[in-house]
Amino acid sequence: MADTLAPAAPAKAVRGRRRITRRAALAAGGCAAIGAATYVCRNTLRLRLERRRIALPRLPAPFEGFTIALLADLHHSRCVPLALIREAATLALSARPDLVLLGGDFITGSARYADPCLRALEGLAAPHGVFAVLGNHDHGGKERAVRSALARRGFRELFNAGVWLARGGARLRLGGVGDLWRATQDLPAALGDLRAGEGALVLTHTPDFAELMESDGVDLLLAGHTHGGQAVLPLVGAPFTPSGYGEKYRAGLVRGPRCRVYVTRGVGTSVLPVRIGCPPEVSVLELVRGRENREGADFVAGAGSQAPEPCAAFE
Ligand SMILES: [Fe+2]
Repeated sequence: MADTLAPAAPAKAVRGRRRITRRAALAAGGCAAIGAATYVCRNTLRLRLERRRIALPRLPAPFEGFTIALLADLHHSRCVPLALIREAATLALSARPDLVLLGGDFITGSARYADPCLRALEGLAAPHGVFAVLGNHDHGGKERAVRSALARRGFRELFNAGVWLARGGARLRLGGVGDLWRATQDLPAALGDLRAGEGALVLTHTPDFAELMESDGVDLLLAGHTHGGQAVLPLVGAPFTPSGYGEKYRAGLVRGPRCRVYVTRGVGTSVLPVRIGCPPEVSVLELVRGRENREGADFVAGAGSQAPEPCAAFE
């Protein structure tokens, strides 16, 4: 009896130890999964207010300090809640901008998301108004729904069109062009009667338009579309940026061939419902007169050679 029982005790102990080790491994794995999920969730939903001061060579003196809030890529859908969009609007308004620009991709999928999305933004207001362009996701039969939702809130779409902003007896052109992937672009129509020596702000959805512009009349192009890469992995970077120019227009202030380009990381997500290493952004841009920005390092000059500067504060 003793002979037969003797080996059983250590085997039981080993089985017990294995069970404990397996439990410990499962607990550690569970903690790691919860940690990773918390990180991804926070990264996807925690908005950041990115403030940039941008020097423009042809900015009229009365527009010194003019502030623009830029929101893009809201992508309202089952994956992007209205609460996030409302929070983005509140954050933009907290900066008391002179002008609000909406850079397109209001929805993903069904046109039925258009009205709720714009209802979440309807508190947006600024002394110089709220203007918008459509993004590639707003096309494909959804234009009518998005356009009427914009119009109901008094937000004006600049589809190959522009307006003059007036301040202190000076004027500044604000133009908008159609989406590069899904519409037409007529920059001369957006610039209107812009004269030599005057520089314009132009709103577009896709920053690649900077590479195709044939006019030197634009001082600053404002865009979204690339979502900052949406997933930016350590050592790897962004595996996918929807641009024909690699990571050049992934995010931040970029030197384009003819003008500066500011690319916001946007608010929502598409394709995958998560952001990694790339939090959602509400951009607040302060315009100042000058050839180069005083801080001197606010260009993302090389294609993929530098990480964008996502959070440069005002001086
Ligand atoms: Fe988008």
